[in-house]
Amino acid sequence: MPYALVRPLLFTLDGETSHNLGLRLLDTAHKLGLVRLLRRRPASQPKTVMGLTFPNPVGLAAGLDKNGEHIDAFASLGFGFIEIGTVTPRPQPGNPKPRLFRIPEARAIVNRMGFNNDGVERLIRNVERCRYEGILGINIGKNFDTPIERAAEDYLACLDAVFPHASYVTVNVSSPNTKNLRELQSADALDDLLARLKSRRDLLTAKSGRRVPLVLKIAPDLDEDQIDTIGQLLLKHGIEGVVATNTTLARDMVADLPHGDEAGGLSGAPLRDRSSEVIRRLFQALHGRIPIIGVGGIMSAEDARQKTDAGASLIQVYSGLIYRGPQLIPELVAALT
Ligand code: FNR
Repeated sequence: MPYALVRPLLFTLDGETSHNLGLRLLDTAHKLGLVRLLRRRPASQPKTVMGLTFPNPVGLAAGLDKNGEHIDAFASLGFGFIEIGTVTPRPQPGNPKPRLFRIPEARAIVNRMGFNNDGVERLIRNVERCRYEGILGINIGKNFDTPIERAAEDYLACLDAVFPHASYVTVNVSSPNTKNLRELQSADALDDLLARLKSRRDLLTAKSGRRVPLVLKIAPDLDEDQIDTIGQLLLKHGIEGVVATNTTLARDMVADLPHGDEAGGLSGAPLRDRSSEVIRRLFQALHGRIPIIGVGGIMSAEDARQKTDAGASLIQVYSGLIYRGPQLIPELVAALT
């Protein structure tokens, strides 16, 4: 179904209704075999990163399929990898609605979803049921009512549960919508969290023989010193990858537009340059030794190349898919291969 026909309908609805309808339409089109029939098949240019072979370097960013309910449908769009979540140990409803806003004038989105999800057990059942055999990242977080001092327990519980099912696990310490979560990016807290996750992961590997890379997802709202410190900690603990970046708290680029002042995280075109700056700095701090998955404001081939020029090995999209539709994926794959 050409997205150009569907988008005007979706954009007449409020953010979350349109999001849910879009996912239902995608599932239906997938089940009818329409997606495979209509899509331009992206060129396959396998790339090995973190010891995993990606059929192409363009992935689905976390947050669009929080419970892993649409994995097969997203896979049929031609993504080289899919990241589901953020999932928390227990189910939770997230923040009150409305909590998802489009800003079409800026090709941006503001969200304050707050990790609404069905909990890790349900996510695993969905993963077990799907037919996808490609690279699956599972993004983990903490429940909103777990005190921040006990956050590591939630991450460890999620890691234990998802380990047998994930190609890699992303540790999300950068959502702006869970109170105090971003404090986990500070030096001491991150040092402790990474040490605990790494030793648990190594234990799980020793028991199972499975190799599952750990990846950290960071915010764009970090200064150069903070980025350097995070880089040093990633190297110290031998973390295998980093996703840069999550949504931003900055609002200067959309301040005068409708919904521009909504609380939450801003994504889409206005985030593009900031996220690329973070990637550039991080690449230096890591001396190129740990791969970066670049995400933030990729709406075109040129934007994708900006991310790889800054040092990203792989990329992910979320807002670009909402504004440009599925045709964006083969366009990005072609740009990077
Ligand atoms: C997100 N994002 C996100 N990230 C994450 O790690 N866990 C999550 O649960 C979510 N949830 C979420 C919901 C909504 C509505 C949006 C728009 C975004 C962030 C996302 O994965 C990505 O990092 C940013 O959106 C920046 O990329 P784009 O959207 O500019 O391509």
